[in-house]
Amino acid sequence: MFDNPAFDGHERVLAFNDAASGLRAFIAIHSTALGPAGGGCRLWRYADGEAALSDALRLSRGMSYKNALAGVPMGGGKAVILGPVPDERRAGVFAAFGRAVDSLSGTYVTAEDVGVSPADLERVAASTPYVSGIVVRNGVGGNPAPFTARGVCVGIEAAASFALGRSGLDGVRVAIQGLGGVGMNLAGALHARGAALVVADLAPVRIEEACDRYGAAPAGVEEILTADADILAPCALGGIITEDVARRMRATVVAGGANNQIADAAAGRALFERGITYAPDYVINAGGIILVSAEYFGATDLGGIEDRIDAIGPRTSRILETARMTGTPSGVVADQMAREVLAGARVDA
Ligand code: NAI
Repeated sequence: MFDNPAFDGHERVLAFNDAASGLRAFIAIHSTALGPAGGGCRLWRYADGEAALSDALRLSRGMSYKNALAGVPMGGGKAVILGPVPDERRAGVFAAFGRAVDSLSGTYVTAEDVGVSPADLERVAASTPYVSGIVVRNGVGGNPAPFTARGVCVGIEAAASFALGRSGLDGVRVAIQGLGGVGMNLAGALHARGAALVVADLAPVRIEEACDRYGAAPAGVEEILTADADILAPCALGGIITEDVARRMRATVVAGGANNQIADAAAGRALFERGITYAPDYVINAGGIILVSAEYFGATDLGGIEDRIDAIGPRTSRILETARMTGTPSGVVADQMAREVLAGARVDA
């Protein structure tokens, strides 16, 4: 693990195997400098254990940076469960995962991510209190996806203003890849602001829904990345902006909800060389963790949470302006800012 390219001084990385239920999972705790490590649980069919471990390492580091920049009093962690999980084993797997989370005594707080539903989290919550994103108290809590979408939308507005000189999204063409919890809510928010949408998903029924409700145009899953649009909003999985995509894409802005959108350094360089504006993913998709952490710590002021999510807009603008002024890729600027916050927390501790 220490030689894995995604290893970044993580505090703890644990592997769990529960033979009775079939659970196989990693929990990666990147940092607890700012508080208990917060980050969702992903269920995915990985090529192998190495790929799952790499994902957990990358995603947990991203959570540290995301929480640091969003002012969330949590460190960074992430769990991945190796799929597939047959339906008849699902309840047992999530109960076992809850026991795994509980064994960490609150140093890791789990929540929803790709492939995990609120019903799954209820099963986790039966085994541990260290879970969030399920209960709505005084209007705060529950499924974070709509809140993530709200933050992505204000991030898109900031990026459109910066790169396209637009003061709103009326008539701006946005290509959305992935119409799950985040993508579908984002489609609704963008449509309400007058954006013209082109959408793709693996599930035809979701495309139909976005076309019917939001007047979106359908695109194939391969075409969407190079669609004729102003903004590409990746809202499915990570690693989709490869060097090849960066060289061929027609949108001049990348701003979406998916974690780890840029596949590697070469892809990042290609975006930068082409002058494509990239709104760093973990900066604009922080709305969900802002809600999840507020629920976990017992906040009751929904308006205050929405204000914190809306602050993603000016934060995105600042990062993009700094990137322009210093001739540095925006992802590098955001990473530097996050590392400064983390280093400050370690000094203060
Ligand atoms: P989800 O599982 O609800 O939706 C993902 C959607 O993407 C599904 O509809 C799936 O069919 C589609 N998809 C998968 N591969 C695709 C492909 N190649 N082309 C087109 N569509 C594809 O997941 P959710 O919650 O919407 O998350 C989406 C992304 O946002 C993930 O990367 C997640 O890590 C990230 N994210 C989610 C947050 C949340 O609050 N749910 C918070 C922050 C980040």
